[in-house]
Amino acid sequence: MDLNALLKQMTREEKIGQLIQLSADFFGNSTELTGPAQSWGLSVKQLSTIGTCIGGADAASIRKIQEEHLKIDRNKIPLIFMRDIIHGYRTIYPIGLGLVGSFDPELVGECTEMAAKEAAAGGLHLTFAPMVDLVRDARWGRVMESCGEDPLLASTMGAAQVKAFQGDDISSRDHLAACVKHFAAYGAGESGRDYNSVEISERTLRQFYLPSYKACIDAGVKMLMPSFNDMNGIPSTANPFLMQQVLRDEWGYDGAVISDWAAVKELIKHGVAADLKEAARLAFENGCHIEMLSDAYYKHLSELIDDGVISEEALDDAVMHVLRLKDELGLFEDPFHQADDARGRDMYLSPEHRAIARKASAESAVLLKNDGVLPFSEKIKKIAIVGPFATEKAIIGPWSALGKIEESVSIAEGVRNLLPDVKIRTSRGCGYLYDDTDLSGFADAIDAAKYSDAVIVCVGEPQHYSGEGNSRGTLCLPGVQEAFVKKITSVNKNCAVVVFSGRPLALTDIYDAAPSILQAWFPGSEGGNAIAELLFGRSNPCGKLAMTFPKTVGQCPIYYNRMLTGRPKKTPDGVYQPFSSGYLDCGSLPLFYFGEGLSYTTFEYQSMTLDSHELDESGSIKVTVSLKNTGERSGKEVVQLYLRDEASSAVRPIQELIAFKKVSLEAGEAVDVTFEITEPMLRFWNAQNEYISEAGRFTLFVGYADHRYIEDSFTLIK
Ligand code: BGC
Repeated sequence: MDLNALLKQMTREEKIGQLIQLSADFFGNSTELTGPAQSWGLSVKQLSTIGTCIGGADAASIRKIQEEHLKIDRNKIPLIFMRDIIHGYRTIYPIGLGLVGSFDPELVGECTEMAAKEAAAGGLHLTFAPMVDLVRDARWGRVMESCGEDPLLASTMGAAQVKAFQGDDISSRDHLAACVKHFAAYGAGESGRDYNSVEISERTLRQFYLPSYKACIDAGVKMLMPSFNDMNGIPSTANPFLMQQVLRDEWGYDGAVISDWAAVKELIKHGVAADLKEAARLAFENGCHIEMLSDAYYKHLSELIDDGVISEEALDDAVMHVLRLKDELGLFEDPFHQADDARGRDMYLSPEHRAIARKASAESAVLLKNDGVLPFSEKIKKIAIVGPFATEKAIIGPWSALGKIEESVSIAEGVRNLLPDVKIRTSRGCGYLYDDTDLSGFADAIDAAKYSDAVIVCVGEPQHYSGEGNSRGTLCLPGVQEAFVKKITSVNKNCAVVVFSGRPLALTDIYDAAPSILQAWFPGSEGGNAIAELLFGRSNPCGKLAMTFPKTVGQCPIYYNRMLTGRPKKTPDGVYQPFSSGYLDCGSLPLFYFGEGLSYTTFEYQSMTLDSHELDESGSIKVTVSLKNTGERSGKEVVQLYLRDEASSAVRPIQELIAFKKVSLEAGEAVDVTFEITEPMLRFWNAQNEYISEAGRFTLFVGYADHRYIEDSFTLIK
């Protein structure tokens, strides 16, 4: 398509229309306008100019909207259809925070490709994913969408998603364009409150928060979304430091930018724009090409051009970003992008797609504690499945696109599928909401637990306690669930506690009572099957935490790569000592660490050898880690390599993950895992805010967080 020629024939009104995104309910009827369209006061002619659409139920309805649109658009420019495909389209796999704990970028890619195929068949062209906001505070409800607390993990998994969504060619029928979000530091909102202000130093921003967005850009992401929050007083949508200096000048990003939902108009509520016209100017000047669902551009861009505040060239440039994306998607040739509900129906929840989701659920679950009760024997005759999640099917998680709760598998169904002959007794026992104080169901659940050979206690927080807008001020199991767990575990010790949640919960109060704890997250459509297989040993847990679990909410924000203080805790168990950094009442250490997760087998780290103890700027050190499966089952282990800079011009973290590899070992098998260390891996934002490495000694270890299995050191020579 000759985009320049197309642009030339467009009127100003038509150009501005390309920069406006409306929801699907605005479209669909080219003669009579109702609902939201009317409230905006759009004429049919104005509607005909709109560039992009959020939503659309399926291929048929999206095709219909597109057809109608092309009938009325004088220039015959197709709409782009966008939506949030976060962890599956119809076949739902685990929430992001769980999935990245697989530490398996290929698996993340496989799930993402599945989502892309399904969503593309359903008519979508672009997904508002990946979400790679670094997260350190479990109170924030959106940690569930994220790629965790570590910059390397988030970068690796963000890039894996971009590549899998987009493939080599976004015009192909099985791929979508991706949109990285929310730029930047949306996860650092004060007090873990959604949309809240972020106060952050430039060093912390650059060192920890920016790499994951940059990794997605390097992976070729087609679109970027600024975050709702203000950062150091400037909302991202209108933040020249972020949107110009970092994004365009330093990183050279030249893709499209879309505002978050109504974020342009919200510049008024932030108090940085006096009115809608100023909001339009601020966002546009900062390179926000498309305005999602507010009316600042539509009402004021033209006027701003007349005033000479915005140039015609700048308008053309913004429009070209949208047209180029349409061209790359192949929409001028096929405005429907081969959308096809029949193709979709063949895929949605097909055995192949369910198998991918099931594998992902299994690899995301994290075994946090096991006193030896797990795996359960398949020879048991009677099992009690109790608690508010025992038969709950709402375990697919928030942001589940077209996923249907009724199409998921509950734990009780999963156990039934796996062991058809076992006698199952289910009992809800109690509720799971903050204000659920009803203890009347306890007796039945206790009875079930008492007279069974094994018990699965299924607890957690309901789906709507996490996700957008859903921050929590406490992190305990809501309602009376802690008392419930204690009661049940006191009557039957052959007991597994399975926790469903969209965030790390403070499980301190149930830790001692629970003989075993499996963190299931929101595991998706196949959750119940995957968990049953894990509990009975058909598969072996291998997930690791992608986010630290605090002992109590008062420790938040808490993360493994904390800075070294001048007064660190003085005892290895983090117990408070006078005049050291910690808490009187809960110590300084979390309950579970980033990178932690048990297996039914045991792994022994036998040695770590470095082929040199000196590194120069052009060289590399080969690190060989010898690992053995010393247990009686096959299993997977994530070998995590951490670094600590022993002295640097600015304070650095106590440890930083610099590489990881997941390996699969048969019982008794040993393997050598190798890593290469080069100078760029040692760089950081130093005291002068330069991204460089500094000569000196570095400590390396394998393990996780404060658990150092083997340690060695080397010197960087400059
Ligand atoms: C969210 C975005 C999302 C957008 C469109 C907003 O409220 O912050 O993450 O992409 O809605 O659904």
